[in-house]
Amino acid sequence: MLSRKANKDSHGQDSSYFEGWQEYEKNPYHPIQNPTGIIQMGLAENQLSFDLLEYWLRRNSNTMALLKKDGVSAFRELALFQDYHGLPALKDALVKFMTRMRGNKTKYTSDKLVLTAGATAANEILMFCLADPGHAFILPTPYYPGFDRDLKWRTGVEIVPMHCSSSNGFRITREALEEAYQLGQELNLNIKGVLVTNPSNPLGTTMTKTELIHLLDFAIDKNIHIVSDEIYSATVFDSSSPTTTPFISIMEVVKERNNNNLNNIRERVHMVYSLSKDLGVPGFRVGMIYSNNEMVVAAATKMSSFALVSSQTQFLLSNLLSDAKFTEKYMEENQRRLKRRKEMLVRGLRNAGIGCLRSNAGLFCWVDMRHLMRSDSFEAEKELWKRILCEVGLNISAGSSCHCSQPGWFRICFANISEDTLQLAMQRMKAFTNSIFSSANHIIYNM
Ligand SMILES: Cc1ncc(COP(=O)(O)O)c(C=O)c1O
Repeated sequence: MLSRKANKDSHGQDSSYFEGWQEYEKNPYHPIQNPTGIIQMGLAENQLSFDLLEYWLRRNSNTMALLKKDGVSAFRELALFQDYHGLPALKDALVKFMTRMRGNKTKYTSDKLVLTAGATAANEILMFCLADPGHAFILPTPYYPGFDRDLKWRTGVEIVPMHCSSSNGFRITREALEEAYQLGQELNLNIKGVLVTNPSNPLGTTMTKTELIHLLDFAIDKNIHIVSDEIYSATVFDSSSPTTTPFISIMEVVKERNNNNLNNIRERVHMVYSLSKDLGVPGFRVGMIYSNNEMVVAAATKMSSFALVSSQTQFLLSNLLSDAKFTEKYMEENQRRLKRRKEMLVRGLRNAGIGCLRSNAGLFCWVDMRHLMRSDSFEAEKELWKRILCEVGLNISAGSSCHCSQPGWFRICFANISEDTLQLAMQRMKAFTNSIFSSANHIIYNM
């Protein structure tokens, strides 16, 4: 009955990532109405700083509710506006916001920016612009489960996994890049580029300068594109300790490294961003592509017709982002809250005998539960994931749904629930690990 595309299973909806959500929907935790329900820890949402946004809205309610511009109603103008170039005021506010948030190291300009309905649309549009069906992009694993849908489903583009390992903290190496390229060639795929998330979802880490340079050199050598999804760039809550890396955008590295524009690399580097995570407004659907390549900007702008941001939302956010004093304060406070939450999660897990990858960004931790599995296999990972979902009542994401090549890693989100709920989740986890550790027949792996 449906078209081949509509039926195509590359959407990825059958992964445990979505299965966990369905179970959660059937039995969601509520402190009073359903205290034994499932706690949602598989959702990378930032709900920690709504009070700050609401405070700004209250202060500006007259202008925002009546859609006023310089004291005069802009209602008619906004109701009619449907230009796919987007509101100049929003684009201007966005580039200034990014320039400020990224420490004024690169000056972003609005002629290189294409507005899209979230990063989801931005990533798909870039695939449509850079690759044909059957072409491929290399993605370091583990990666955000939504990429199977966003990059592959409608475009027909393939993903070639680049396997990163816990032995070096899942860092990108030149060898791993070469191996993935080789794999693509063996599969007869035309590799068009590498797509990374920096900071990483699901690792919660920022890429080091060395990694970024490997990536850039690789793209120069192979004459391919780089897409850097930087949707978590302002969630970086720790950049000063000696063991953490401050956030470095790919745009900064290109500018620094490539004075002579080797092999036209500048035109093959594209950045994706959105306000879904940093500002915690995924429902507003505000994202973008930022590229030095005029042809990509022109093609993506035309394609953005299918993924426009409502002019009312553009109006609201152009006002909010132009308030530099507010956004700076917001980001500072939001990062402080994220750090506190992340530390709560790490402490709670440690107390339950579970460790995490050291991280400094994002809305989640990458958690090592290899020692809780019956064997070192993906079957055992699935079994453990199911027990945590059904017996413990926590929906977390199994590493296999992020295409991790080593079984036993899980992504746990910490910014979409209250502190009390997080504490309860940790109590449940501790009771669970106690029962495992005390059971005589459990074999402890990798302790
Ligand atoms: C790395 C990454 N890219 C893109 C998205 C989609 O974001 P948006 O809500 O802006 O479409 C997400 C959401 O979780 C993500 O983690």
